[in-house]
Amino acid sequence: MSKKIMLSGIQPSGNLTIGNYIGAIRQWVALQNDYHNFFMIVDLHALTVPQDPAILRAKTLEVAKLYIASGIDPAQSTIFVQSHVPEHAELSWILSTITKMSELERMTQYKDKALRHKMNVNVGLFSYPVLMATDILLYQTDLVPVGEDQTQHLELTRILARRFNEQFGITFKAPEGYFPKHGARIMGLDNPQAKMSKSSTVPGHAIALLDDAKAVEKKIKRAVTDSGSEIKSGADKPALTNLLTIFSAVTGRAIAALEKEYKGAGYSAFKIDLADTVNAFLKPLQEKYHSLSDKKITSVLEEGARAAHAVAAKTLTDVRKKVGLI
Ligand code: TRP
Repeated sequence: MSKKIMLSGIQPSGNLTIGNYIGAIRQWVALQNDYHNFFMIVDLHALTVPQDPAILRAKTLEVAKLYIASGIDPAQSTIFVQSHVPEHAELSWILSTITKMSELERMTQYKDKALRHKMNVNVGLFSYPVLMATDILLYQTDLVPVGEDQTQHLELTRILARRFNEQFGITFKAPEGYFPKHGARIMGLDNPQAKMSKSSTVPGHAIALLDDAKAVEKKIKRAVTDSGSEIKSGADKPALTNLLTIFSAVTGRAIAALEKEYKGAGYSAFKIDLADTVNAFLKPLQEKYHSLSDKKITSVLEEGARAAHAVAAKTLTDVRKKVGLI
């Protein structure tokens, strides 16, 4: 295996958005040839906040289908469900014994989530970053494409890899973050200051990949705009910058060209075209999604789990030996 290893994952909760596609999945698809890829559905991570079991099951299959519908080719990339590879839970335990409380206490995502789920600050929410480090280290990952909100977790992963290697001998590769050159952060349609979230419950916040054409039209029509009437991007125009970024990402056209085309057009004409464009982009993706049967996806996930397990088991056997488990 001479290609570098790339790994990433998404939680099967909420509704995957066009922001997940533009900010993450699109990059994974583009890099499929260059790396050996593992794309996970991190169901164990999702359990750290309350989940309805039936919904979790459905969402796990939905995310797998959306990976494929978005262009991830299971013949090229390993797509699997975290909980199908039991090595994750076991290595996570071992790594938790070399992780300091203080290292987890300063994680900003933990602090945020602990505030938002005050009644359920469970141990899993606290040790979440150790499980994420496990996901990465089990596969001797070189590169991890993640958003800014995950850089602290990635840094912990590197620290744990180095700490383990120092204590027990070289075992893990310390991964690098992968921050794509053309990565775009898509913001909420209701609030261009906040990243578009797949778990927001605000009605017009996000465009879901499975939204129908009417919903998309309605959301884009209602999307907040900046004061003035110009179709222009820039630091003083966060809302239009966001809409232009979406337009550019789904068409491949440069923002400058779009600004030129829509000069003087007004917000309403621009939004109508944007809605049509987003719908034209979503249509084939949704057709592909609906063409995938549960049976097909189950077999992809079984094959993915087999391939992932083969790599994970090798790493874990080495770890067990090194720490003295007989
Ligand atoms: N914590 C990540 C997020 O919420 C998801 C994740 C879990 C992940 N394990 C991972 C991402 C391993 C990259 C690599 O976005």
